[in-house]
Formats: sequence, C-alpha cells, structure tokens
Amino acid sequence: MEFGSWLDDLPKHFAADGDIVGSHVLMALSSVFPDGEDFFVRSVEAMRHRIDDPKLREDVEGFIGQESMHGREHRVLNERLADLGYPTRAIGTYVRKTLRFRERLQSRKFNLAVTAALEHYTATLAETLLGNPEARDEIGHDGVRYLLMWHALEESEHKAVAFDVYRAVGGSERMRKAAMWVVHANFIFETGIWTLISLARDPDARRHPFRVLRGFGRLLHSPFTSRRTVAQLFQYHQRNFHPNDRDTTQLIAEWRANLFGADGRLTDLLAS
Ligand SMILES: [Fe+2]
Ligand SMILES: [Fe+2]
Repeated sequence: MEFGSWLDDLPKHFAADGDIVGSHVLMALSSVFPDGEDFFVRSVEAMRHRIDDPKLREDVEGFIGQESMHGREHRVLNERLADLGYPTRAIGTYVRKTLRFRERLQSRKFNLAVTAALEHYTATLAETLLGNPEARDEIGHDGVRYLLMWHALEESEHKAVAFDVYRAVGGSERMRKAAMWVVHANFIFETGIWTLISLARDPDARRHPFRVLRGFGRLLHSPFTSRRTVAQLFQYHQRNFHPNDRDTTQLIAEWRANLFGADGRLTDLLAS
C-alpha cells in the first residue's frame, strides 16, 4: 500500500468541515501509531518462541507484517502533517523513548498484556470507523480516510492475535485487566496532552477560539467518544473476555470487498 500521492493536497485542517480540534486529535493518533506498532511487534516477537500452535504462529507472522506496513504508511502521513506545522516528530520521539523506557522496566508478559489492551483500543476504533458512516465522514480528507479505513480493516482482522499469544504464554486475567487500566490512563492523558499542545501552537486555533470550542463540542458528540464505543472498550474488563466475542467477520468481509474487490476503491493501489 502506498498512500503518499493521496496526501499531496492535504490541507492543514483536514477533518470534516475544516474542524480544527478533530484534525489535531487525528494527528495525535496518527503520530502515536508508528512507534506504538513497533512496540507491539517487539512484544509479540519476544514471546514468539513460546508458541506451539502452528495456526497461532502463522497469525503472528501476519500480525507482524500488517503492523509494520501500518507504521510505514502512517510515517508518510506524519511527515506530511509535520510539513503542515503539526508536532508529529516530537510526538513520535516521545512515544519511542517512553515505550523503550517502560519496556525495560516491565516484564515481557506485561508488555504483551499492554499490547493486547491497545489492540482492543484499535479494534474498537476500527469497528466504529467501519461500522458507522458518520464516523467515516468525520475524517474529512479522502486520503486520510482511506488510509485509516485500510488500517481499521487490518486491525479488525488481527484483533485477537496479541491476545491469543498472551493467553498462550500463560498470561493471567488479573494482569490483563491491570494492563488495560494502565492503557486507559496513558491513552487518555497522552493523546489529550498532545492535542492541547498542538492546538496551542496552531495560529489558526488562537485566532478562532469559537471554532475550537465548537470542535470540542463536536468531539463530545462524535461516534468515537459515544457511550456505545466507551462501553465496548470496557467490555475488556469482563471476566474471560475474548476479542472474538464481538463477531466482526461480516463487517470485515464487506470492507475487504469494498476496498479490495474487483471494483474496490483501493484495489489499484494494492496492484501498483
Ligand atoms: Fe496497526
Ligand atoms: Fe494491530
């Protein structure tokens, strides 16, 4: 996949209706992905030798391939966003350094538990994006929307892999849930802080405070922050939760065909 040429005309406020806040939130998410996904790959790779099940070993190969590809395409988007004045490089450096630091302190099993928890975040956001046309409209720019939809499709496809590896190496329910609480705190704090820092540095945000306020209002009513999405995130805390408890096979099949079928929107991109 190569989305580079789709992003040439990316405007600074690329979210729907030029929403300033939405653009900064999406920027913060995209900035976290490449180094976050490198961490996912490292955590799964560190335990790969302990997997006996050949099917799961195969899934792990697929997982690593998909995550590496996501990182590559998000780096392209992040460079484009950096040219537009967003702090994507600073966010990338921050994520890389803090993850490396935490990784050294935590056990390999806990790193994997954090990865499984974050994969539930990406799977939840992915299901919202693929399942809700309003959510897709919010992205605004075509290039960013299709990049995120491709990413979302693959996140849905491999949503159980890190989780199954965690179980296969004997990860406990207690650690799994504890890791999710750590992830909730970090995710909200870090994306929140970076969005605010980025907004404070944006001259348009300073010039149009009411547009910024409207943007925050819109964020509160977004499908991504809806009660339904939050409830889905918290399903992770249920006893014996498994990512495949939510059956997304139909949604995945539908979007595979829409994006990569004979007349798929991204089929040419794949072929080239
Ligand atoms: Fe990914
Ligand atoms: Fe993933």
